[in-house]
Amino acid sequence: MWKVGGVSPRARIAVRDVWRSLDEHFPFAHRAEWDNVGILLGDPGAPVRSVLVALDATPAVLALCRRARIDLLLTHHPVIHNPLKSIRPDDTASAAAFALAGMGVAVISAHTNADVAPRGVSWAVAHRIGLFGIRPLLPGEPSDACKVAVFVPPGFADVALEAIAGAGGGRVGAYSRCSFRTAGSGSFLPADGARPFKGRAGREERVDEVRLETVVARSLLPKVLAAVRAAHPYEEPSIDVYPLAGGALGGGVGAVGDRKTPASLDDVLGEIFRRVRPSWIRVAGTTTKKVRRIAVVAGSGSEFARAARSAGADLFVTGDMKYHQALEAAAGEMPVADVGHGSAEKWILPEFRRVLAGRFGKGLAIRVFMEEEPLRAFRPGERRGGNTS
Ligand SMILES: [Fe+2]
Repeated sequence: MWKVGGVSPRARIAVRDVWRSLDEHFPFAHRAEWDNVGILLGDPGAPVRSVLVALDATPAVLALCRRARIDLLLTHHPVIHNPLKSIRPDDTASAAAFALAGMGVAVISAHTNADVAPRGVSWAVAHRIGLFGIRPLLPGEPSDACKVAVFVPPGFADVALEAIAGAGGGRVGAYSRCSFRTAGSGSFLPADGARPFKGRAGREERVDEVRLETVVARSLLPKVLAAVRAAHPYEEPSIDVYPLAGGALGGGVGAVGDRKTPASLDDVLGEIFRRVRPSWIRVAGTTTKKVRRIAVVAGSGSEFARAARSAGADLFVTGDMKYHQALEAAAGEMPVADVGHGSAEKWILPEFRRVLAGRFGKGLAIRVFMEEEPLRAFRPGERRGGNTS
């Protein structure tokens, strides 16, 4: 049976299909240069019927993979980060990969690409808090983009754009196939032995051309340039590539938005506790003014406090506050709330599920594992653990 926006429960879904679906919303090429994202383990062509979505491949997640016969684990933090020299159960860096490979579970990790996507990790927290007018705190960062300009005969501009888009280029935030075209004229003098698309050897030509320009993530350049060269009709295509300094790829780091009504810090923290459900909130700084604007950087975002202040935030919500950063916040006018690294980031997990359920419907069984912070405030008699939904 077919479902709108989904696929037949009997249709074969491969690991690479899940990757493609995620890539539409969280482009894997739009990531920090040091990061490791995408299909990190397993056969891209392997069939997938069940997916587990989690922040990390913790022992509890591995146990659930085994118990629930999971085919694909989708994590936020990369299961394999640094290059491995060995994959062993007694090596912390590779023990999870060893276990998952042994179970035949494929792994996709969506990390900084999910951070900077328009509806990314910090957006999910800001949305959960109930802010409106949510926008990136630092638009377009991190930016590792290039401008690619291709000179083509007028009839080939669409062909060139198709090639660029097919290789993953031309994407700005939630927009794909982005380009700008300028008509002009080009000239060339083919040497003996040349095979010009137009004209002949030994005679200078002036031809109508279109300069088609777009942005491409640096990591995709080789793929994009190869695709453009393959699609270009000229023997020697003219292609300019130059680095860009600003946020050319859209999206951005963090999120900032406003409450509908201002409220006291205590009331706002109480509401955040109810909505974000962290294990604890640690707060530095006090405020006598009401909190209306809130900036969020999920995960380790404490170094973005200055950006939050510049955005006019009355409160900065993040994770992993250190002592000296807390001292700074305590002395300033903008309080900082540390809700825990994972407690904030875990709200991207239901977003991952939403994207996959929207694409594959009942064709995929998707479970989300919302694990508690590994670091906890000790309270006598309290038990801990994660839960799935
Ligand atoms: Fe993180």
